[in-house]
Amino acid sequence: MSEFAEIILDGKSYQLPVVEGTENEKAVDISALRAQSGYVTLDSGYKNTGATTSAITFLDGEQGILHYRGYPIEQLAEKSNFIEVAYLLIYGSLPTQQELNDFSNKIRLHTLVNEDMRKILDGFPSTAHPMGILSALISSLTAFYPESLNPNQTKEEVDLSIIRLMAKLPTIAAWSYKNSIGHPVNYPKNKLDYCSNFLHMMFAYPTEEYELNPVVVDALNKLLILHADHEQNCSTSTVRLVGSANASLYSSVSAGISALWGPLHGGANQAVIEMLEAIKADGGDSKKFIAKAKDKDDPFRLMGFGHRVYKNFDPRARIIKKAADEVLTALGINDPVLDIAKELEEAALNDPYFVERKLYPNVDFYSGIIYRALGIPTDMFTVMFALGRLPGWIAQWKEMRENKEPIGRPRQIYTGATKRDYVAVENR
Ligand code: CMC
Repeated sequence: MSEFAEIILDGKSYQLPVVEGTENEKAVDISALRAQSGYVTLDSGYKNTGATTSAITFLDGEQGILHYRGYPIEQLAEKSNFIEVAYLLIYGSLPTQQELNDFSNKIRLHTLVNEDMRKILDGFPSTAHPMGILSALISSLTAFYPESLNPNQTKEEVDLSIIRLMAKLPTIAAWSYKNSIGHPVNYPKNKLDYCSNFLHMMFAYPTEEYELNPVVVDALNKLLILHADHEQNCSTSTVRLVGSANASLYSSVSAGISALWGPLHGGANQAVIEMLEAIKADGGDSKKFIAKAKDKDDPFRLMGFGHRVYKNFDPRARIIKKAADEVLTALGINDPVLDIAKELEEAALNDPYFVERKLYPNVDFYSGIIYRALGIPTDMFTVMFALGRLPGWIAQWKEMRENKEPIGRPRQIYTGATKRDYVAVENR
């Protein structure tokens, strides 16, 4: 018999199969445990729970390894571009030239959004956070493409939803920004590549020519590639969970955007810059904030430090740190907030509290710094993360559908009151 785990409950022994992945990761398959023994497993925050098998992304948090479909992130960041990586994640292999041309041409053809979308956008107050707008507008795509609600769509129909989502999210994202600053929106320019088109929609004015800086386009490609997938993180698990109820691609991704918004997840890149600005406003003493982060009675955490799975280093952070240095040099940026970032990084990397707990700067520490250098406003940082994570969400949603995974429905251990009788209000 192949390898199994034995568990003894109430004096009775149960054998649980062991599942092994292609990179030799092992899991105990407990799916039949409750039916056999009446026991469930308890794992708050799913720290030790494999929710699915997946052939998309491999990461080894101890060794700092990240592969998309087997390709190391370092090679993809150096040699590929975001659209090619998106194809790789969604369809499983690197595209031929013909496949790549088809994929990117189709995306170019679908960048326009229905003009009625602008009316929805206009309805948001200027105080609206762009992540809220993005989540709402992506969900509202179901209204424009109601056929996407059919859970039995053909492969071709699903592919069209994928193309539409890849094409329209940058337009919606850039429009949410333009709307927030009271400027006219820019329509997409389909002769531009994906990243250039997004930058044009974000920063061009109808009154002036917009010149693209290749350093900026390159940095944006890298950032999007590094964020493109990260296996079963909070937002991706959300996309899979919502999608497991047969919800449409648009609604599932909209839910993922809401999850990403949280400051412990994608919202961390915004939180990093806000923290650095707060340190600057307080006089710039980074040591004081390091002490706050170490104080158990103080809820303050150093944003951009630590990671749930990377416990030695975040491989994305290494690549992005280099890109951040290049961008700052190329754009000749001298920003006091970035000096504080360097001090903080230096101090934390040499402080036993952070060293013992293996708390290193994560990808969001540096991505926030690059976004700021590129002129992207702070509350758009998490939108940039969403733009990058989109192919990963799509790939994971598609995989879940193709594997015909059952609806996600965790169990619990109830700890509330035991049965008691209703008491009329006058007797309470
Ligand atoms: N500053 C100070 N102390 C920290 C930090 C931090 N940023 N992160 C963790 N710790 C401490 C924590 O207090 C605990 O100490 P102790 O063992 O003495 O109680 C220990 O380190 C372990 O922390 P944890 O909360 O059990 O770790 P976790 O794996 O549950 O949390 C995390 C991971 C990313 C939520 C956390 O490190 C954190 O809150 N970091 C700041 C937010 C952040 O940068 N998030 C972006 C993550 S990368 C982007 C993404 O993939 O979403």
